[in-house]
Amino acid sequence: MTHLSVNLNKIGLLRNSRGRDYPNMIQMAERTLQLGAFGVTIHPRPDQRHATYQDAHDLKALLKAYPQAELNIEGFPDAQFLNVVLEVEPHQCTLVPDDPNQLTSDHGWNLSRDQDALRPVIAKLKQKGIRVVLFMDPVAENMALAKEVGADRVELYTEAYANAFGTDQAEEVLANYQQAAQAALTAGLEVNAGHDLDLQNVAALCDPGHITEVSIGHALTVEALDLGWDQVIKAYLEKLA
Ligand code: PXP
Repeated sequence: MTHLSVNLNKIGLLRNSRGRDYPNMIQMAERTLQLGAFGVTIHPRPDQRHATYQDAHDLKALLKAYPQAELNIEGFPDAQFLNVVLEVEPHQCTLVPDDPNQLTSDHGWNLSRDQDALRPVIAKLKQKGIRVVLFMDPVAENMALAKEVGADRVELYTEAYANAFGTDQAEEVLANYQQAAQAALTAGLEVNAGHDLDLQNVAALCDPGHITEVSIGHALTVEALDLGWDQVIKAYLEKLA
Protein backbone atom coordinates (compact mmCIF):
# COMPACT_ATOMS: atom_id res chain seq x y z
CA MET A 1 0.00 0.00 0.00
CA THR A 2 1.17 3.50 -0.80
CA HIS A 3 0.38 6.33 1.60
CA LEU A 4 -1.58 9.32 0.33
CA SER A 5 -0.54 12.76 1.53
CA VAL A 6 -2.98 15.36 0.27
CA ASN A 7 -1.35 18.60 -0.82
CA LEU A 8 -3.59 21.46 0.39
CA ASN A 9 -1.94 24.31 -1.52
CA LYS A 10 -4.93 24.73 -3.85
CA ILE A 11 -7.21 25.10 -0.83
CA GLY A 12 -4.89 27.89 0.32
CA LEU A 13 -4.96 29.48 -3.13
CA LEU A 14 -8.76 29.52 -3.20
CA ARG A 15 -8.93 30.89 0.34
CA ASN A 16 -6.38 33.63 -0.35
CA SER A 17 -8.22 34.78 -3.47
CA ARG A 18 -11.09 36.22 -1.39
CA GLY A 19 -9.42 37.51 1.75
CA ARG A 20 -11.48 35.50 4.20
CA ASP A 21 -10.93 32.11 5.70
CA TYR A 22 -13.07 30.14 3.23
CA PRO A 23 -12.41 27.40 2.39
CA ASN A 24 -10.83 26.74 5.75
CA MET A 25 -7.66 24.72 5.31
CA ILE A 26 -7.78 23.13 8.74
CA GLN A 27 -11.34 21.87 8.23
CA MET A 28 -10.36 20.45 4.84
CA ALA A 29 -7.33 18.79 6.41
CA GLU A 30 -9.49 17.31 9.14
CA ARG A 31 -11.98 15.89 6.61
CA THR A 32 -9.06 14.45 4.66
CA LEU A 33 -7.62 12.71 7.70
CA GLN A 34 -11.01 11.49 8.90
CA LEU A 35 -11.48 9.84 5.51
CA GLY A 36 -8.30 7.86 6.08
CA ALA A 37 -5.61 9.76 4.17
CA PHE A 38 -2.21 9.16 5.72
CA GLY A 39 -1.24 12.80 5.82
CA VAL A 40 -1.36 16.32 4.50
CA THR A 41 1.26 18.35 2.68
CA ILE A 42 1.78 22.07 2.20
CA HIS A 43 4.34 23.89 0.12
CA PRO A 44 4.60 27.41 1.55
CA ARG A 45 6.43 29.65 -0.90
CA PRO A 46 8.11 32.91 0.16
CA ASP A 47 5.15 35.03 -1.06
CA GLN A 48 2.74 32.66 0.75
CA ARG A 49 0.41 32.81 -2.24
CA HIS A 50 -0.96 29.33 -1.51
CA ALA A 51 -0.14 27.83 1.88
CA THR A 52 1.14 30.25 4.51
CA TYR A 53 3.66 29.76 7.29
CA GLN A 54 0.76 30.13 9.74
CA ASP A 55 -0.92 27.15 8.02
CA ALA A 56 2.12 25.08 8.98
CA HIS A 57 1.59 25.91 12.66
CA ASP A 58 -2.17 25.37 12.46
CA LEU A 59 -1.85 22.01 10.73
CA LYS A 60 0.70 20.81 13.25
CA ALA A 61 -1.76 21.72 16.02
CA LEU A 62 -4.54 19.80 14.23
CA LEU A 63 -2.37 16.73 13.83
CA LYS A 64 -2.03 16.41 17.60
CA ALA A 65 -5.56 14.92 17.43
CA TYR A 66 -4.46 12.49 14.68
CA PRO A 67 -1.38 10.76 16.05
CA GLN A 68 -1.26 8.24 13.20
CA ALA A 69 -1.20 10.98 10.53
CA GLU A 70 1.75 12.95 9.17
CA LEU A 71 2.41 16.53 8.16
CA ASN A 72 4.80 17.02 5.27
CA ILE A 73 6.13 20.51 4.60
CA GLU A 74 7.88 21.00 1.29
CA GLY A 75 9.84 23.89 -0.10
CA PHE A 76 13.13 25.56 -0.85
CA PRO A 77 15.29 25.70 2.26
CA ASP A 78 15.78 29.46 2.60
CA ALA A 79 16.24 30.92 6.09
CA GLN A 80 12.56 31.70 6.65
CA PHE A 81 11.37 28.28 5.47
CA LEU A 82 13.91 26.53 7.67
CA ASN A 83 12.98 28.58 10.73
CA VAL A 84 9.34 27.64 10.30
CA VAL A 85 10.07 23.96 9.72
CA LEU A 86 12.41 23.77 12.71
CA GLU A 87 9.77 25.46 14.87
CA VAL A 88 6.81 23.41 13.65
CA GLU A 89 8.70 20.10 13.53
CA PRO A 90 6.58 18.33 10.90
CA HIS A 91 7.03 14.59 10.52
CA GLN A 92 8.61 15.11 7.14
CA CYS A 93 10.26 17.92 5.23
CA THR A 94 10.67 17.66 1.47
CA LEU A 95 13.40 19.94 0.17
CA VAL A 96 12.70 21.30 -3.31
CA PRO A 97 15.06 23.38 -5.48
CA ASP A 98 12.47 25.89 -6.67
CA ASP A 99 13.06 29.60 -6.90
CA PRO A 100 10.59 32.05 -5.31
CA ASN A 101 8.88 33.04 -8.56
CA GLN A 102 8.44 29.58 -9.95
CA LEU A 103 4.83 28.70 -10.81
CA THR A 104 5.37 25.19 -9.44
CA SER A 105 8.27 22.81 -8.82
CA ASP A 106 9.73 21.74 -12.13
CA HIS A 107 13.03 19.94 -11.48
CA GLY A 108 14.87 17.92 -8.89
CA TRP A 109 18.10 18.71 -7.04
CA ASN A 110 21.44 18.72 -8.80
CA LEU A 111 23.32 17.08 -5.96
CA SER A 112 26.77 17.31 -7.56
CA ARG A 113 26.30 21.08 -7.42
CA ASP A 114 24.12 21.53 -4.32
CA GLN A 115 25.39 18.86 -1.93
CA ASP A 116 27.56 21.20 0.18
CA ALA A 117 24.64 23.56 0.77
CA LEU A 118 22.26 20.70 1.55
CA ARG A 119 24.35 18.67 3.99
CA PRO A 120 24.10 21.09 6.97
CA VAL A 121 20.42 21.76 6.27
CA ILE A 122 19.63 18.04 6.25
CA ALA A 123 21.67 17.49 9.41
CA LYS A 124 19.81 20.28 11.24
CA LEU A 125 16.39 18.91 10.27
CA LYS A 126 17.34 15.38 11.24
CA GLN A 127 18.64 16.57 14.61
CA LYS A 128 15.05 17.66 15.29
CA GLY A 129 13.77 14.22 14.33
CA ILE A 130 12.29 15.43 11.03
CA ARG A 131 12.44 12.93 8.16
CA VAL A 132 14.15 14.55 5.18
CA VAL A 133 13.17 13.97 1.58
CA LEU A 134 14.95 15.31 -1.51
CA PHE A 135 12.90 16.11 -4.62
CA MET A 136 14.72 14.34 -7.45
CA ASP A 137 14.44 13.72 -11.16
CA PRO A 138 14.14 9.98 -11.93
CA VAL A 139 17.82 9.35 -12.59
CA ALA A 140 18.94 6.05 -11.04
CA GLU A 141 22.62 7.06 -10.84
CA ASN A 142 21.84 10.03 -8.58
CA MET A 143 20.13 8.09 -5.82
CA ALA A 144 23.27 6.92 -4.00
CA LEU A 145 24.40 10.54 -3.57
CA ALA A 146 21.01 11.47 -2.12
CA LYS A 147 21.62 8.85 0.55
CA GLU A 148 25.18 10.00 1.05
CA VAL A 149 24.19 13.64 1.73
CA GLY A 150 21.92 12.36 4.50
CA ALA A 151 18.40 12.13 3.03
CA ASP A 152 15.98 9.53 4.37
CA ARG A 153 13.88 9.47 1.25
CA VAL A 154 13.71 10.87 -2.25
CA GLU A 155 10.56 12.19 -3.89
CA LEU A 156 10.58 11.34 -7.57
CA TYR A 157 9.35 14.25 -9.69
CA THR A 158 6.60 12.63 -11.73
CA GLU A 159 5.62 15.25 -14.30
CA ALA A 160 7.39 13.32 -17.09
CA TYR A 161 5.57 10.15 -16.05
CA ALA A 162 2.21 11.93 -16.04
CA ASN A 163 2.88 13.50 -19.44
CA ALA A 164 3.82 10.15 -20.96
CA PHE A 165 0.89 8.28 -19.42
CA GLY A 166 -1.42 6.94 -22.13
CA THR A 167 1.10 7.62 -24.92
CA ASP A 168 3.47 5.31 -26.82
CA GLN A 169 6.29 6.37 -24.49
CA ALA A 170 4.45 5.38 -21.33
CA GLU A 171 6.09 1.99 -20.83
CA GLU A 172 9.61 3.28 -21.36
CA VAL A 173 9.11 6.27 -19.06
CA LEU A 174 7.54 4.12 -16.36
CA ALA A 175 10.47 1.68 -16.58
CA ASN A 176 12.82 4.62 -16.00
CA TYR A 177 10.91 5.58 -12.85
CA GLN A 178 10.97 1.98 -11.63
CA GLN A 179 14.74 1.86 -12.16
CA ALA A 180 15.20 5.11 -10.24
CA ALA A 181 12.97 3.84 -7.43
CA GLN A 182 14.87 0.55 -7.28
CA ALA A 183 18.21 2.40 -7.19
CA ALA A 184 16.95 4.52 -4.30
CA LEU A 185 15.80 1.44 -2.40
CA THR A 186 19.14 -0.27 -3.05
CA ALA A 187 20.91 2.83 -1.70
CA GLY A 188 18.87 2.52 1.51
CA LEU A 189 16.34 5.25 0.82
CA GLU A 190 12.57 5.13 0.82
CA VAL A 191 10.75 6.56 -2.17
CA ASN A 192 7.98 9.16 -2.39
CA ALA A 193 6.54 10.46 -5.63
CA GLY A 194 4.65 13.53 -6.68
CA HIS A 195 3.60 16.09 -9.27
CA ASP A 196 0.78 15.74 -11.76
CA LEU A 197 -0.39 12.43 -10.36
CA ASP A 198 -4.10 11.80 -10.68
CA LEU A 199 -6.78 9.14 -10.41
CA GLN A 200 -5.88 7.75 -13.85
CA ASN A 201 -2.12 7.49 -13.59
CA VAL A 202 -1.34 6.89 -9.91
CA ALA A 203 -1.97 3.14 -9.67
CA ALA A 204 0.41 2.08 -12.44
CA LEU A 205 3.23 4.07 -10.86
CA CYS A 206 2.68 2.59 -7.42
CA ASP A 207 1.76 -0.98 -8.46
CA PRO A 208 5.13 -2.69 -7.93
CA GLY A 209 5.12 -1.49 -4.31
CA HIS A 210 8.26 0.64 -4.50
CA ILE A 211 6.57 3.90 -3.59
CA THR A 212 6.00 4.62 0.10
CA GLU A 213 4.02 7.85 -0.32
CA VAL A 214 2.50 10.02 -3.01
CA SER A 215 1.59 13.65 -2.48
CA ILE A 216 -1.19 14.92 -4.73
CA GLY A 217 -2.78 18.34 -4.86
CA HIS A 218 -3.66 19.94 -8.17
CA ALA A 219 -5.41 17.07 -9.94
CA LEU A 220 -7.01 15.88 -6.72
CA THR A 221 -8.62 19.30 -6.29
CA VAL A 222 -9.80 19.39 -9.90
CA GLU A 223 -11.15 15.85 -9.57
CA ALA A 224 -13.01 16.87 -6.42
CA LEU A 225 -14.62 19.68 -8.44
CA ASP A 226 -15.42 17.29 -11.25
CA LEU A 227 -17.00 14.68 -9.00
CA GLY A 228 -18.94 17.23 -6.95
CA TRP A 229 -19.93 19.76 -9.61
CA ASP A 230 -23.14 18.13 -10.87
CA GLN A 231 -24.46 17.60 -7.37
CA VAL A 232 -23.90 21.23 -6.43
CA ILE A 233 -25.46 22.63 -9.60
CA LYS A 234 -28.53 20.44 -9.00
CA ALA A 235 -28.69 21.60 -5.38
CA TYR A 236 -28.68 25.27 -6.49
CA LEU A 237 -31.35 24.62 -9.09
CA GLU A 238 -33.52 23.03 -6.43
CA LYS A 239 -33.05 26.02 -4.13
CA LEU A 240 -34.01 28.40 -6.91
CA ALA A 241 -36.95 26.47 -8.31
N1 PXP B 1 5.71 17.46 -4.86
C1 PXP B 1 6.23 18.70 -4.93
C2 PXP B 1 7.65 18.90 -4.55
C3 PXP B 1 5.45 19.80 -5.33
O1 PXP B 1 5.98 21.02 -5.41
C4 PXP B 1 4.09 19.58 -5.66
C5 PXP B 1 3.23 20.75 -6.04
O2 PXP B 1 3.17 21.66 -4.98
C6 PXP B 1 3.58 18.28 -5.55
C7 PXP B 1 4.42 17.25 -5.17
C8 PXP B 1 2.16 17.96 -5.87
O3 PXP B 1 1.94 18.15 -7.23
P1 PXP B 1 0.44 18.28 -7.78
O4 PXP B 1 -0.12 19.53 -7.21
O5 PXP B 1 0.63 18.34 -9.27
O6 PXP B 1 -0.29 17.07 -7.33
